[in-house]
Amino acid sequence: MKRIIILMASLAVAVSCIQSQVQSINVVPYPNEVCIKGGTFNLGDSNNIFYSEEFDQASGNAVKSFAENLSIVSGKKCNVTAGNGRSGFVFTYNPELKNEEYHLTIGRKAVIAEASSLNGVIYAIQTIKQMLPVDVFGKTAAPEAEWTLPCCVIKDSPRFGYRGLHLDVSRHFFDVNEVKRYLDIMEVHKLNTFHWHLTDDQGWRIEIKKYPKLTEIGSIRNKTIIGHIKTSHEYDHTRYGEGMWYSQDQIREIIDYAASKGITVIPEIDLPGHMLAAITAYPELGCTGGPYEVWGDWGISNDVLCVGKESTMNFLEDVLTEVCELFPAEYVHIGGDECPKVRWEKCPHCQAKIRELGLKSDDKHKAEHYLQSYVTARMEKFLATKGKKLIGWDEILEGELAPNATVMSWRGVAGGLEAVRMGHDAIMTPNTYFYLDYYQSINKENEPLAIGGYLPVEKCYSYEPTTEEMTEEEVAHILGVQGNLWTEYIGTEDYLHYMILPRLAALSEVQWCDKDNKCWDRFFDSADEFCAIYEIMGYNYAKHIFNTKGEVIVNKENRCVETILSTQGNAPIRYTLDGSEPTSESMLYEAPIKITGTCTLKAKTDKPGIETETFCKTFQEHKAMGKPVVGNNEAHWRYTFNYPDNLTDGVRGVSNFNSGEWIGMNGKPLDVTIEMDGQKYSSITLSTIVVKSDYIFNPLDITVYLSKNDADYLKVAHIDIPVEGKNDPDGIKEYTLTFPESDSKYIRVTATTLDKLPSWHRSPGRKGYIFVDEILVK
Ligand code: ACM
Ligand code: ZN
Repeated sequence: MKRIIILMASLAVAVSCIQSQVQSINVVPYPNEVCIKGGTFNLGDSNNIFYSEEFDQASGNAVKSFAENLSIVSGKKCNVTAGNGRSGFVFTYNPELKNEEYHLTIGRKAVIAEASSLNGVIYAIQTIKQMLPVDVFGKTAAPEAEWTLPCCVIKDSPRFGYRGLHLDVSRHFFDVNEVKRYLDIMEVHKLNTFHWHLTDDQGWRIEIKKYPKLTEIGSIRNKTIIGHIKTSHEYDHTRYGEGMWYSQDQIREIIDYAASKGITVIPEIDLPGHMLAAITAYPELGCTGGPYEVWGDWGISNDVLCVGKESTMNFLEDVLTEVCELFPAEYVHIGGDECPKVRWEKCPHCQAKIRELGLKSDDKHKAEHYLQSYVTARMEKFLATKGKKLIGWDEILEGELAPNATVMSWRGVAGGLEAVRMGHDAIMTPNTYFYLDYYQSINKENEPLAIGGYLPVEKCYSYEPTTEEMTEEEVAHILGVQGNLWTEYIGTEDYLHYMILPRLAALSEVQWCDKDNKCWDRFFDSADEFCAIYEIMGYNYAKHIFNTKGEVIVNKENRCVETILSTQGNAPIRYTLDGSEPTSESMLYEAPIKITGTCTLKAKTDKPGIETETFCKTFQEHKAMGKPVVGNNEAHWRYTFNYPDNLTDGVRGVSNFNSGEWIGMNGKPLDVTIEMDGQKYSSITLSTIVVKSDYIFNPLDITVYLSKNDADYLKVAHIDIPVEGKNDPDGIKEYTLTFPESDSKYIRVTATTLDKLPSWHRSPGRKGYIFVDEILVK
């Protein structure tokens, strides 16, 4: 039997856990009701597996396949019989249970699994498998393993009905077997929806019989940009995409395979933007008529469908007709994201359509936005004639939302929240929590190239899709949560798995577990077990979860800085404060480390068989280090991190603005007050980072005020700073302001952000950010 763990809440993670210090099993996503009894169920040399005849054929097949698998790996025979039994595994049809719900009663003589649906049966099997030796996920016999189960009662059903994972097969293609393996690991984590992003500027990947050139021409690009889109101008001129599309038979094969795992496949045909592959195949679909080229760049193409022409609408309806015939899913995703309007603004067909429809620009949107709304609404109506519902990315909120559309919220959570307020359904896939193409480490140089960002598994885990302000009705409109995997930089299956695992495990708990049943400590502690599943199933996975984690806090009571370290499985942590690499002889971490001066803290965990990264923070002593600080303005919601405490924690930021050491201000100036303690000082240094391509500029001015009583402030220093030009180098920039020596108790520092990005920028007119890691007082 796998170990039953006793959990102790670790210090570092502030997720409340009702499961702390109770017995728990190692199952992810964790079941919503678990009651552990004493004793075990033992697999005998010959085992009976029964299933009720009321189950449908697919459920019966799932039981048979489990029996076959168990016979091989346990080396013990499992005989399957349709009908009822009293001992062994008894899969019982229970119409009282909801779709996807299952109950497990594991006694010494029998394992009774109750369900009313295929999904319920599958989830009961997955839970049983995760409680058996991990060898059950392998393919070879392991008769020496302990084939037992703990006696317990589990009553389980998912929190959300929509539990999705997305895959972009346009930027890089993954073949039928690779997609099946993607589905296999989704099944382990009880996901039920595969969102298949089949078409984009860089390749059309679904056979459409009426338009053969979509795959003949549209699947192949002549070049692919090398390196990062923001900085690269180099191309690999190898043709990419020959034969890289799915025939309709292959698509049916995948749909059937997914269905056998309780997974629905939702196709996405992204329109009216992200259509360059289609327009290349059929140039008359574009506004300019071409010539066009299947894109070798990443990003957003200005060439989109010409929606002013009725022939384009006919094309879309023809494509969607074949898609609706192929896919049994209730929903079709029509994309709708990132559709520039520049071609439409100049196109006689599109402008004529705008006039014909009487569309007008207003305070909120341009007429061209309403033109996109017209396309979405038309697609929605058309899909309805085929018995299908429409999903679109949150841009479909711009203009007028189609009457019954479901919104997929990707630009943070705002779109989803707006949609549910409007009474629409929403699926939450915020890039801030579930863009699985984001980096998993702040040490980007040690990672394969990714799109950007920083999304460690603990951040994924922390996501809560509902808010306190939501009404019950609004909560009911949140259909569920999804992780997205865009594949610009992901060209191999190994890398694909590395990006989803183990973040998929965190996603599955957000999707499955009731709010009070999520528990980071329990999840974190079971990482050995779920990673062992990946290992035996042959999936590559990221190991960052085993790294030492650290939290730097300003202890306001003691007016000092402390660092709290933690590790998975409470493995011992060794650390140094002189910047040297920790060894087995270094100090053993036992309690929060008080940081008293300039130093570099390095901490490392020894995890047998796993190369963990060293945790590293550099502290710089100054007179405000550890002093209380108050933010008079809010930081931007996406870059709040440890605001405002990070400004006096002494930690110096590294070059990744997403590392958590920097906070971002956007729209509002930085405005903070530091409470000093009687020391004399005569300067402040504001430390910022400039990354102009990401809208992060220098502050336009900085002002320092001093006060003895936090009421009457005297301005003591001010500087104006010119806006950086296109050719000024990015990087960390410090600005020092000096003033006559003082011991005033309060220092107020303000710094202004750029209101409009300059005309040379890729997004002129947008608001600029400033990012700050520390305010050093000397
Ligand atoms: C998206 O990430 N463009 C939906
Ligand atoms: Zn046009």
